[in-house]
Amino acid sequence: MQAMALTPLLLLLCSIPFLPSISEAQEMNVTEANGLSFDFYKKTCPSLESIVRSRMTAALRSDIGNVAGLLRIFFHDCFVQGCDASVLLTGSSSEQSAVPNQTLRPNALAVINDLRNLIEAKCGRVVSCADITVLATRDAVLLSGGPQINIPLGRRDSLKPASVNTVNANLPSPVSTVTDLLEAFKANKLGPEDLVALSGAHTVGVGHCNTFTNRLFPTVDPTMDPTFAKQLQKTCPTSGSPNTQVLDIQTPNIFDNKYYVNLVNRRGVFTSDQGLFGDSRTKPIVRRFAADQQKFFTEFANAMVKLSQLGVLTGSQGEIRKNCAKPNSAGLDLLDYLLATE
Ligand code: HEM
Repeated sequence: MQAMALTPLLLLLCSIPFLPSISEAQEMNVTEANGLSFDFYKKTCPSLESIVRSRMTAALRSDIGNVAGLLRIFFHDCFVQGCDASVLLTGSSSEQSAVPNQTLRPNALAVINDLRNLIEAKCGRVVSCADITVLATRDAVLLSGGPQINIPLGRRDSLKPASVNTVNANLPSPVSTVTDLLEAFKANKLGPEDLVALSGAHTVGVGHCNTFTNRLFPTVDPTMDPTFAKQLQKTCPTSGSPNTQVLDIQTPNIFDNKYYVNLVNRRGVFTSDQGLFGDSRTKPIVRRFAADQQKFFTEFANAMVKLSQLGVLTGSQGEIRKNCAKPNSAGLDLLDYLLATE
């Protein structure tokens, strides 16, 4: 199953175009905003994008789950206190200790730190963990079959995490109604098109049983295809089952528009997914993306750029972390100490 799903991916990897030049990227582009720019690291780290591209190619070859892992980390970072790498911080009262973040993928978190080390070795400590997260996610989407997304850079890292309460208040729940989802996205200046397009990230990855068994027990959600419900009940015999279910039953490892085709066929996994096809404000958008992958790709890319600019720190705000999992103030190592006291 894994090997079969990887074959089209490897074909895709061979056909990925070279990185566009900065000016080409600018031409295809969306506006720069919030103090971010497309050529932010042009002088300080000219090889940045090629380092990320080649490390991400290897990361996806060894674990295709990194695509889903990175997309979810990126969303959970940006929706809580802005795209400032606060979700990467570890510790007892970190964002990672909040329930929705306990299932972030350790491999994907490790890829970000590994990239940070590779980039520091080449350029020094100039690139933030927040920008590395954005670039790694962007490349993961492209390398798994999705659109090319041009994202302005220059984010800085937060000095501390948001509280667990803030995480829980800001991340939408899988049992949310469309009204709740529209409100949560509107609070971040994202409209219905953005909500539907970004939910398309569920074209990859998995959900644990407890995130959707509300639709299976005690009775099956009438908006779910009965054959699909039987399949899910096999995967999750009880609501407490630790198993997982792929979110796109057709092509779980490829970034495509099959998520929307599944919704039209009543085979969405979460209440929050299937609801998009049951509400007159979002249904036409689901239909449009199910019928036309290019339209989905264009809207997804636009929405990702907007998401990537939420609450960014720039200029002299925040810091460039030495370790993505810790603020720099968490402790000087011996080398720092010697340099500081020279
Ligand atoms: C619209 C509101 C959303 C809700 C309610 C939601 C909820 C969830 C839940 C409950 C899971 C399953 C987690 C688990 O059991 O391990 C999940 C997985 C995932 N979500 Fe979302 N999500 C939403 C939007 C997004 C957005 C905007 C993105 C990215 C742009 C995203 C990317 C993902 C990915 C890729 C996975 C699979 C993760 C993996 O396999 O490790 N989600 N989401």
